[in-house]
Amino acid sequence: MSLTLDGFGSAVRSNLVAVSRTNLAWATLLDVGPAEGGRRRLHDRLAHALRAAIRDGRLVEGAAVPPSRALAEELGCSRWAVTEAYGQLVAEGYLSARVGSATRVSWIPEAAPPAPRVPREPARPPIRYDLAPGLPDLRAFPRRRWADAVRAVTGSAVHYDLGLPDPDGHAVLRDTVAQYLRRSRGADTRAASVSVCAGVTDALVRTCRALRAEGIADLAVEQPGWRRLRDAATSAGLRVHPVPVDQDGLRVDHLVRTPARAVVVGAAHQFPTGTVLSPARRSRLVRWARDVDGFVIEDDYDAEFRYDGHPVAVMQGMDPGRVFLLGSVSKTLSPALGLGWLVAPAAMTPALREANIVAAAPPVLDQLALATFIDRGWYDAHLRAARRRFRSRRDLLVQTLEAEVPEGRVAGTAAGLHILLHLPDGADSRGTVHAAAAAGLRVADLDDYRPNRSAERALVLGYGNISDTEIPPAVTLLREALRSPTVTSPTPARQVGGS
Ligand SMILES: Cc1ncc(COP(=O)(O)O)c(C=O)c1O
Repeated sequence: MSLTLDGFGSAVRSNLVAVSRTNLAWATLLDVGPAEGGRRRLHDRLAHALRAAIRDGRLVEGAAVPPSRALAEELGCSRWAVTEAYGQLVAEGYLSARVGSATRVSWIPEAAPPAPRVPREPARPPIRYDLAPGLPDLRAFPRRRWADAVRAVTGSAVHYDLGLPDPDGHAVLRDTVAQYLRRSRGADTRAASVSVCAGVTDALVRTCRALRAEGIADLAVEQPGWRRLRDAATSAGLRVHPVPVDQDGLRVDHLVRTPARAVVVGAAHQFPTGTVLSPARRSRLVRWARDVDGFVIEDDYDAEFRYDGHPVAVMQGMDPGRVFLLGSVSKTLSPALGLGWLVAPAAMTPALREANIVAAAPPVLDQLALATFIDRGWYDAHLRAARRRFRSRRDLLVQTLEAEVPEGRVAGTAAGLHILLHLPDGADSRGTVHAAAAAGLRVADLDDYRPNRSAERALVLGYGNISDTEIPPAVTLLREALRSPTVTSPTPARQVGGS
């Protein structure tokens, strides 16, 4: 059988089949597909067909391919096209060619392991209202100004900026962030180094690696707390010691009983309890860090949003030699940007550099866009508008809860984007979460943020990403879930996976 092409490089019928003069069943092996997409030239298509036949085992190791002249004749194309295709596959290691002998297949595909069985998630009812914590108001992302900032820096960045990024972040953004943190968060950046990273989680991984390199292997974390921070610390090789939190924040009296020499603390607004670290605990914590020759790692993730009174300045300003300050735009703009900062004691700069030598900085143009966004005053304007919006949304949520769920007690309302709803004794928080989800409302159980269930029954309600008009119907669903007959009896304790 002989097949011809309609001329090399011209439109070719699909499914052309190459047949060798040998007795090999080339007709069933090679399917030189149609000239479409990026693979328009015959030699590319022939190489593709041969590669596919080798990869899926139709051509086995050691098999000789037809001499180029013979295959070219069969195809009715130039011999050049065939030698090009063979040459390409020799370069890729699929074929080997030796002078005076046939070109042969030189690669064996490994049998693909069976795909792991992924248990099918049970179908969930669609979520109509989202009161789970975690997100800012994604509808209010300042798209136009962000696009303006990206456009501006794409036009103005010097060509040098498009080279290898500095792992510590671009100097322009580091400088802008340092100024921003000084003026708006009371940070002290004189005796500290400011670097740019992909967010608080990334900043914590970097910090933990540096601590580990400096001989600090034990880290305390708040309990309840955000599971990802604990995971970040263990992924960097630290042992994690949970320390309880009360209405004044982290229990320093418990911390001193652990072997930890560093602690992660949400001083401005603890997650998820919403408590603010009391002034007495702040100074005790810094004194503890000095006593153990250790560090406080301040997670300043949503401190821009404080509604009643002035924002509390960061602890880092109390002792920049002992306090790391971690922040990001995940709660102010969007977690999708992946931009944050790490302010570290100056003495730790070499350890940070050394331990994070292969760390990747966020995309440079995004870093420069954020610098422009802040420098032009757009970040402050966005925060002012967001603060107003979140304050009135928080008030609406609290008032609606007080009217509809009087048996609950609201707490942790001073700052941030979530509050706590304490449930009466005997209430079933887990059952409520399930009943609410079945009705299309997402809320979180406080117990989701610790490894074991506790006696405290509370829900964590985020109001960042729900619209004002959705709050009344969402709270009505919550009330119905709380009163639903299926949640009246407490469920047995079970370990949950954190946030
Ligand atoms: C306690 C806490 N810290 C920090 C963050 C922000 O983390 P990242 O900057 O890595 O997005 C969050 C986000 O939800 C958080 O809940």
